[in-house]
Amino acid sequence: MLPAKSSLSLAYPPPVPEPATAGTAAAPVVEVLSAEKTYDKGTRALLPVDLRIRQGEFVTLLGPSGCGKSTLLKMVAGLLEPTDGRILLWRQPVQQATATAGKMAFVFQSPTLMPWASVQTNVRLPLDLAGVPRAEADARVADALALVGLTRFHEALPRALSGGMQMRVSIARALATDPDLLLMDEPFGALDEITRHKLDADLLELQRRKNLTVVFVTHSIHEAVFLSNRVVVMAARPGRVVETVPIAEPYPRSLDFTTSTEFAQYARHLQHSLLRASVDTEEALS
Ligand SMILES: Nc1ncnc2c1ncn2[C@@H]1O[C@H](COP(=O)(O)OP(=O)(O)OP(=O)(O)O)[C@@H](O)[C@H]1O
Ligand SMILES: [Mg+2]
Repeated sequence: MLPAKSSLSLAYPPPVPEPATAGTAAAPVVEVLSAEKTYDKGTRALLPVDLRIRQGEFVTLLGPSGCGKSTLLKMVAGLLEPTDGRILLWRQPVQQATATAGKMAFVFQSPTLMPWASVQTNVRLPLDLAGVPRAEADARVADALALVGLTRFHEALPRALSGGMQMRVSIARALATDPDLLLMDEPFGALDEITRHKLDADLLELQRRKNLTVVFVTHSIHEAVFLSNRVVVMAARPGRVVETVPIAEPYPRSLDFTTSTEFAQYARHLQHSLLRASVDTEEALS
């Protein structure tokens, strides 16, 4: 069932209270508690956000350029401090949590590989930095490359790979650290649509198999509906959450889901939500 539409009349509608999705009694992994961000020069990148993400959930941040998606994701990663409010991972402050409670990996929009190093050396980098013994590191690298289907290419240099394959290397590098929480900032944004759909399907399979908690950023409504338990719709100027939409479809999801009536309804709902928010922004600015 699609959620009811939120009011059209409010300039900045408050976020819809989050439903208990997917019947999860799982522990919260990410808790964003009235966290907001104003950058040094006074840019209000993000009004206060409240968001709870449970173990095994796939949550997507969807919104136009400049709405604060990367800002929110970086705050969750502990790469940026909120100006006000708090962020907890596994019920602890971020820095403390990643030292003791769980492992987190961040996948950036571009693959950021070392061009002079082989695929396996690139994937092994975080393990080398963490001082993991060589034999164990090599075994974990082999597992991660198998998960993303790149075993045959372990000795290749990045330049010999397509954009989609380089992105797989970047994902393997994150998976090699055996994360519990995967943060992905538009990882497939630079890829063609066909490759992107293939990687979306592969990512979803991986996420289910390893019961990963994923926070994923995208501009793509299609990608958001296909992948997510919940989609957090955001708007710009000022950056804010306007709605959280549960995608109440069972997993595993096949390509058939993308041609279903339900898929089209979710996509339409998200499109309307984004459009409404941009109209609200224009009215508030005029
Ligand atoms: N380091 C910074 N200093 C000042 N302002 C910043 C900084 N980083 C981002 N901003 C501003 O904060 C707002 C949100 O930026 P952010 O990068 O989080 O948006 P985004 O939703 O990720 O956009 P995109 O889809 O283009 O990646 C924008 O107005 C941006 O210009
Ligand atoms: Mg961004």
